[in-house]
Amino acid sequence: MRVPPPMPPKITRRRSTLHGFGVFAAEPITKNTRIIDYAGELVRNDQSEAREERYLADGCIWVFRINRTWSRDAAVGGNIARFINHSCTPNCWFEVVDRTIWIRASRLIQAGEELTYDYATVGEKTIPCRCRPGCPTRL
Ligand SMILES: C[S@@+](CC[C@H](N)C(=O)[O-])C[C@H]1O[C@@H](n2cnc3c(N)ncnc32)[C@H](O)[C@@H]1O
Ligand SMILES: [Zn+2]
Repeated sequence: MRVPPPMPPKITRRRSTLHGFGVFAAEPITKNTRIIDYAGELVRNDQSEAREERYLADGCIWVFRINRTWSRDAAVGGNIARFINHSCTPNCWFEVVDRTIWIRASRLIQAGEELTYDYATVGEKTIPCRCRPGCPTRL
């Protein structure tokens, strides 16, 4: 008999002190839980680069680079995961499994905490990080 996959934890979108909207835990989330997948159209990098430039001109990163060939564009077919902000001291990490990008808890996350992961951006690095006062990182 097949064991059904576990229910995903409850998360919610609301205003963030980091930037715009963020995503918050609505209940405690245990370490390593697969919280949500970063949804979006699967596009080849040679196509996603023009999109990325267009989005960055508006100050937003929506394209998640999976590998040397593929990216996911959360501006097309994205889910709530596209509102998860970056932090240099994040409480989540991402794992790519067959072109699915899983956002996973890197420690126990309490209800009410904002979810963050390290974007590990390879692009233009024009956006100053606001994860803490004086953070030198650029996204
Ligand atoms: C995937 S979106 C996240 C959702 C975004 N907060 C919103 O409301 O649309 C990524 C964008 O959020 C902003 N962002 C995310 N984390 C940030 C941070 N730590 N510091 C400054 N801006 C951040 C940047 O503008 C980035 O391009
Ligand atoms: Zn930072």
